[in-house]
Amino acid sequence: MTVGTGSVLVTGGTGYIGSFTVLALLEAGYKVVIIDNLYNSSVEVINRIELISGKRPIFYELDVTDDAAFDKIFSEHPDITNVIHFAALKAVGESTEIPLEYYRVNVGGTISLLRAMSRHNVYNIVFSSSATVYGDATRFPNMIPIPEECPIGPTNPYGRTKSMIEAVITDHVEAQRKNAQKAGKSGEEWNGALLRYFNPAGSHPSGIMGEDPQGVPFNLLPLLAQVAIGKREKLFVFGDDYASKDGTAIRDYIHILDLARGHLVALDYLREHQPGVRAWNLGTGRGSTVFEMIKAFSAVVGRDLAYEVVDRRAGDVLDLTANPRRANHELKWKAEHTLEDACADLWRWTSNNPQGYRQSPPQELLAP
Ligand code: NAD
Ligand code: WQD
Repeated sequence: MTVGTGSVLVTGGTGYIGSFTVLALLEAGYKVVIIDNLYNSSVEVINRIELISGKRPIFYELDVTDDAAFDKIFSEHPDITNVIHFAALKAVGESTEIPLEYYRVNVGGTISLLRAMSRHNVYNIVFSSSATVYGDATRFPNMIPIPEECPIGPTNPYGRTKSMIEAVITDHVEAQRKNAQKAGKSGEEWNGALLRYFNPAGSHPSGIMGEDPQGVPFNLLPLLAQVAIGKREKLFVFGDDYASKDGTAIRDYIHILDLARGHLVALDYLREHQPGVRAWNLGTGRGSTVFEMIKAFSAVVGRDLAYEVVDRRAGDVLDLTANPRRANHELKWKAEHTLEDACADLWRWTSNNPQGYRQSPPQELLAP
């Protein structure tokens, strides 16, 4: 990885994946400007990033649908040359209840951002897409593990915002590149990385930085962690009648540190190869069932965790495992942390910070 120069604008940079990417950017030498409206995050994460890295990102509490806000940021920080765009609403169930809000924030916010980038001559965007764009890839023979060539087919409004944004970015980048070519302007080529994340997991090994959603979590590992600290009586396992080895659904859980690093290598790739728009899966290539996850997390906690099998959750699919070969070869990126690391780090974070960022970190975890 090259040493970072210049500033990176990170939207949604106080959220779970955003905050770990900000940390990785600062550690690599970039300056970072965050905008986030704190809808699903806490500003305390900025202090934790500084505690770990010794560097503090610049933070603005702003909304990504606010055109004037972007003008202010790009004008005040003319050294911003790259953007990483995380800010979004992300609850699949909620997206079926208030779809317009999802299209407004996710798609509308991206359009505001791209327009502002055009006004301020910023050409590189890395976008948080999702494995959810593939929908049920098992409908295609030979598409598990899932390569980027797998036809996309999201099955819910949240997923459709992601596939629409991929299309919006692709169309915009292609149009801008053609315009630049016609005008004979070199050095103004737009580029976009569409990073399709599989299931992010884990926390910082220090135990002072982790996922801290503002409402009730709905992902498997945060829910299991709540069972382990006694906030929940048991985990409901959504179906044990899938065509997997133990009947539960298969996902590709990727450590948050590996995922964060993926954004830095994508930035490097855009700068060095000027590829236009390119999609990459960020996953490990290894699938785990729900029962395997319960076993792995119970092992780090040191006791069995209660669960009950219930009906399948609407919209769930059998298998979302990445074929990460394109990222392995082109980005020279490979997930390095194990599932056991992710479980151990998550447990260190949850057991030491049951109130997340609403409490001070335990003194013994702070470096002397
Ligand atoms: P998160 O909710 O922790 O982070 C999103 C951040 O965006 C939050 O800090 C939130 O406050 C902010 N935000 C929301 N609406 C905003 C608005 N209108 N203006 C400014 N900020 C706003 O979620 P995350 O898990 O870190 O996800 C980050 C990105 O990755 C999202 O785009 C999400 O769709 C995508 N993604 C997440 C997962 C996952 O499982 N966590 C998987 C695939 C893709
Ligand atoms: C994992 C597995 C569940 C909770 C979601 C979004 C996806 C992406 C990542 C943003 C599944 C099972 C879960 C529980 C369970 N986000 N499970 N009991 O559904 O793979 O992906 O988050 O882009 O878009 O859909 O993740 O953590 O919810 O579920 O049995 O209480 O755990 O059925 O098999 P999912 P998850």
